[in-house]
Formats: sequence, structure tokens, C-alpha cells
Amino acid sequence: MSAPVVRSALRSDITALLQLEARCFDQDRISRRSFLRFIEHPQDVLLTAEVNDVLLGYILVLFRRNTQLARIYSIAVSPDARGLGLGRILLERAEMAAQERGAVFMRLEVRTDNIAAQNLYQRLGYRQFGVYHDYYEDHESALRYQKRIHHYHPLAGSRAVPYYRQTTEFTCGPASLMMALSALDARHRTEPDEELQLWREATTIFMTQGHGGCGPHGLALAAHRRGFAVELVLNQDGPLFISSVRSPEKKQVLERVHRQFLANLARADIVPRYEHFTLAQLEQGLNEGRLPLVLISTYHLDGRKAPHWVLVCAMDREFVYIHDPDIDEATGESAVDKQYLPIARARFDRLARYGQNALRTLVWVAKP
Ligand SMILES: CC(C)(COP(=O)(O)OP(=O)(O)OC[C@H]1O[C@@H](n2cnc3c(N)ncnc32)[C@H](O)[C@@H]1OP(=O)(O)O)[C@@H](O)C(=O)NCCC(=O)NCCS
Repeated sequence: MSAPVVRSALRSDITALLQLEARCFDQDRISRRSFLRFIEHPQDVLLTAEVNDVLLGYILVLFRRNTQLARIYSIAVSPDARGLGLGRILLERAEMAAQERGAVFMRLEVRTDNIAAQNLYQRLGYRQFGVYHDYYEDHESALRYQKRIHHYHPLAGSRAVPYYRQTTEFTCGPASLMMALSALDARHRTEPDEELQLWREATTIFMTQGHGGCGPHGLALAAHRRGFAVELVLNQDGPLFISSVRSPEKKQVLERVHRQFLANLARADIVPRYEHFTLAQLEQGLNEGRLPLVLISTYHLDGRKAPHWVLVCAMDREFVYIHDPDIDEATGESAVDKQYLPIARARFDRLARYGQNALRTLVWVAKP
């Protein structure tokens, strides 16, 4: 076979695309009007593969606005050209096009009985993370696959940050702090007992439900106690998360804990800076070798309105890269998905605030 030529589809390809569609699919076929729309819509990516000027395959990728997701809407290779690697080439080229558009994840759905396509996706590193039941016209289910297509390429000489997964729902703060401490000091050992110890030092005691997580004051003090230099930046004073509890008794406890934190900070000569930190400040601190624990709201990530600590490990022109200590195995996540996770800069800026009062806070940790 001569080398295939992959290029963006043109209006003049529509007849060949429709013929291919008719040979490859019995149902849910893309219509002439839809092909035309995809070709003329500059956001979408419709690539064709030709061999000796004959159109033998295509792939269609759609992008959802304001997300980092690209989705393979369809891929097809002519029956007499299968098994020759065209599917793989189309998929690889589609991933490159999606990366250029800033997508971080590629997703797709595939019929449960389509083993050829499932093998193709798995070969290229896609993994199943969910199922849609009764998805197709004939009621067949769809398997959902995903692949992270954007990866962080650290600059030579930049610091590698070890990853530590939180082992309880309420220890994102300690887990993030442990990652920072072991990145800054190679002798620092991360041990499960330390996660709970840090939590006991830094917890605000109560939150909406269950155990309270950690606040910035407590995390700063815990890092200071272990000999690290810290800086605490937040845009409001007074006890945090107090509006998340109803009972006056719990509110009182939060206030008492807060007063203790302030007294301990004063004793340690740590003066909180009350300001709204910017991405430029984040970048500057990282360049100076400090690491920031940042409180984000997970609302835009998974729909739950929970405050969540992550460690920012690096930034480049487009992305903020975080180590997110929370792994949700129920949705097929693994540690690889949560390390150096790229979040578009503007999006991170929106994520880094929590609750009605738009609490924005971080704790800088540095070598002493
Ligand atoms: C799925 C499809 C696009 C694959 O295209 P292709 O050009 O034949 O695939 P490739 O030659 O690039 O094969 C790549 C990998 O896919 C897998 N694969 C492809 N055809 C396969 C088959 N018939 N059985 C099992 N695995 C198969 C293999 O793992 C292969 O890797 P390998 O050759 O290293 O083992 C093609 O079969 C097709 O058009 N099917 C009909 C339309 C369709 O189902 N689209 C997907 C909708 S989700």
C-alpha cells in the first residue's frame, strides 16, 4: 500500500464520505447535511485518509466548549482497506489535532459488540471508564473510553514532585502537603501515619458532613513545625467554612479552633497575607522553588461542591499542572490520571475559589 495521505475533509469529499458511511454502518449514519456542517464548522476536526487519491477512511472529532474534552464522534475505514493501519493513523492524527486545540482528554463511545474498534482504542492507550446503557438505535450499550492526550514535559533540571494518594475522604490537605514536603526534601519519608497526624494538626474539625478537612492555617503550621518555610495567603479573615455548618455549637467549635490557629501562627511569626493571589504570583513562586497547596472547588470538576486541596507542581503558557491526591476508582481513575494533571490557566483561576464567599487561599511551602 502506498503511504496514506491524511488531510482535512473538503466539500468535494462528501460523496465519497457518504459512500464510505453506507458501507461501514447499518444505522446511526451521518447525513450529507451533517457532513457539510462538520466540514464548514472550524471547531470540529474531520480528517480523511486517502491512498492513491481514493478516500479510504475518515475520523470526526468534536470539541465541547469550555471543557478540556475532545470526543471522537466517528471513525471508519473502508472494509477492503482494514487491518492495514489506517485506523491507527487516523486516530493518532486526530489526537494531534485535538492537542493543538488545547484538549487534555479524548473520549469516545463504542458498541459493546465492536471488538475491532475496542482493540484499536486499547492499543492506543484508551481505557474504559463507564457504560451508557441502551445507547444506540438498536438498544445496544456503549462503552465509554478515555485517554489523556496532553502530558507535562518537564524542563530539564526541573524538580520532580512525588505523588501521594489520599487514603481518606478528608485528607486531601495532608496528602498534598506530604507531596510538597517530599519534593522539597528528598529525606522526607511519606508514611500513611503521617497523613493522619497532619490531619489531626490541621483539621478545622467540622464541615458540612462527616469529618472536617484541613484549613490553610493548620496546614501552614504543620509544615512550619516540620522545619519548612511557609507563607499563608488568603482573601478573608475569620473562621473559614463556618457557613457550611448549621448548629451554633459547631460554629462555636470552629471559632475556637480558628482562634487557636491564629495564636499559634503569631507564636511562630507567621503573618497571614490577606489578598487575592494571582496566577502570575503562582508562577513566580514556582520559579523560585516554592510549592503552593491551593484550595479549589471541585464543583466544576465533578459537580460536588466540596473544598479540595491540590498541589500545584508546574505551570507553562497554557496550563497549570496539579497533583490531585483524590483518585475515584469507581470511575476508572488511576494515579496516572491525577499526576501533573493539566488544567487550562483560566479554568484553574476559576477553580481556585470556594463557596459563597469565594474563599481563595494557598499555602506556600519552601525549603527552610
Ligand atoms: C474500527 C476500524 C476503524 C479499524 O480500522 P483499521 O484500519 O482496520 O484498524 P488498524 O489496521 O489501524 O488496526 C489497529 C488495531 O486495531 C485492532 N483491530 C483492527 N481490526 C481488528 C479486528 N478485525 N479484530 C480485532 N482487532 C482489530 C488491532 O488491535 C489493531 O492493532 P494491531 O494490528 O497492532 O493488532 C475499522 O474496523 C472500521 O472502520 N470498522 C467499522 C466502523 C466502526 O466500527 N467504527 C468505530 C465506531 S466506534
